[in-house]
Amino acid sequence: MYPVTLAGQAVKLREFRSDDVADAFAIDGDDRVTRWLSFDSRDRAATAAMVDGAITRAKLVPRTEYYLAVTDADADDRMIGFARLGFSGVRAAKLGYAIHADHWGHGYATDAARTLIDFGFGQLGRHRITAAIGPENAASIAVVKRLGMQYEGHLRDHVHTGGTWRDSLLYSILATEWTADSGPGETP
Ligand SMILES: CC(C)(COP(=O)(O)OP(=O)(O)OC[C@H]1O[C@@H](n2cnc3c(N)ncnc32)[C@H](O)[C@@H]1OP(=O)(O)O)[C@@H](O)C(=O)NCCC(=O)NCCS
Repeated sequence: MYPVTLAGQAVKLREFRSDDVADAFAIDGDDRVTRWLSFDSRDRAATAAMVDGAITRAKLVPRTEYYLAVTDADADDRMIGFARLGFSGVRAAKLGYAIHADHWGHGYATDAARTLIDFGFGQLGRHRITAAIGPENAASIAVVKRLGMQYEGHLRDHVHTGGTWRDSLLYSILATEWTADSGPGETP
């Protein structure tokens, strides 16, 4: 399915564009963000390659990755974050997201993740969606709990980042459990 645009309450999700590199670099090149991700901060060239790769993979048939730019629904079309659903296993998908550090705390990640999960269980027909999160990443754990994802277990040395191995906590949600009502303004 291409191109994809998804409307949340606070955010919109759209396909990456080649003019997103500067805004993507403000996220991927920021240690405040990448310390929680599975890769180290990228330079501008690596960010440009990431954007190019996302644009190329988005057009593959069959498409197995929905790596989308997050924009503020009440502002312009500039990227303030990203959200990704990557297919894995049997009708499963892995969820990831990040928001520019200057925009944290406004509910953008929760809304972006909720919108993408809803798309995953709806039009994409996924049965199971997982998120692997660093044990100390309290903000991300709050996001997945808010969305009703359940803790499944502790993955040892799951990612290598910052020159060292890092564990992850695995959270999941099944299609049969999903309600798109979860999110800001709702009871966690
Ligand atoms: C995780 C991240 C995406 C959250 O983005 P955001 O737009 O600020 O998220 P939201 O505003 O939707 O929700 C953040 C939640 O975390 C909570 N939170 C934030 N900082 C927290 C902290 N230090 N301790 C506990 N909870 C915290 C907020 O209260 C909120 O929960 P609530 O809605 O139940 O009140 C953002 O911090 C980020 O980009 N981090 C770096 C990349 C990353 O960690 N990505 C996820 C990898 S698994």
